[in-house]
Amino acid sequence: MDSIVAWCARHSTFDSQLRDLRRVAPEGDRSRTLAALQALQAALSLHMGQEEALLWPAYAPLAETLPPNGSVRVLQADHDRLRALLASVSEAAEPRSAADWVAQQEALSLLAGVLEHHDGRELRWLAPTLDAHVPSAQRRRWLRRIEEEETALELPEPPSPRTTDHEPLPTSSPLQRLRVAVARDSGWQQALDELRAPLHRKGVRLHQRCATQLASAAATEDLAARRDALAHAADTLRLLALVVDLPHRAEAGSSRAESKAPMKKCE
Ligand SMILES: [Fe+2]
Ligand SMILES: [Fe+2]
Repeated sequence: MDSIVAWCARHSTFDSQLRDLRRVAPEGDRSRTLAALQALQAALSLHMGQEEALLWPAYAPLAETLPPNGSVRVLQADHDRLRALLASVSEAAEPRSAADWVAQQEALSLLAGVLEHHDGRELRWLAPTLDAHVPSAQRRRWLRRIEEEETALELPEPPSPRTTDHEPLPTSSPLQRLRVAVARDSGWQQALDELRAPLHRKGVRLHQRCATQLASAAATEDLAARRDALAHAADTLRLLALVVDLPHRAEAGSSRAESKAPMKKCE
């Protein structure tokens, strides 16, 4: 294989590792969350290091005429952010308070958003530019080395999700109550009923989307599928919190800069 565009299919591995992580995070069990995080952290760290060491030196001069979103500077900023978010998830592996749970949910949701946008940028700019301008023999050498390093990497099997049994936690608003309930996979149907649809037009749409996602979580008896639906609802709730609940974002300790980037459209 010599196509960098085709090689970008690797990105789906990180999506599924993150999905496995988000399936066990609601349990609040530090060792199981870290076990699930380990595979993603190892694979993604290797991948980012390979891109930085092998691909970017050749790509940097080619990217000079591309829009800023295709620049090495922006791609590097994504990698820095992904590393910081992986560290945040690791630090938040044992949430105790409602704010801890929201912070963990926030970090996982941001990780998903940044990964999606970064992969889109690489597929749109980095990969086709390298395929068009770097000789095939060179690309083959890169990909051979990358594959050897990937093969040498031993990744642990992720834990299978388990049902949760959490005591309620004190929370400061109906929206935060729902965020915590979704993060812990506990009591979210009741918390949704208690949350009135916000009057803001965008908030109403997000509220409806969240209700639909939670309805699909309620409709399945498969635990993994329910956790996947809850992860989607958590992503929606993060956006809803941006619209209607800014004070509670501050309470959860999230930075303003982190909250804004995933709202951007992928370019
Ligand atoms: Fe990358
Ligand atoms: Fe990549």
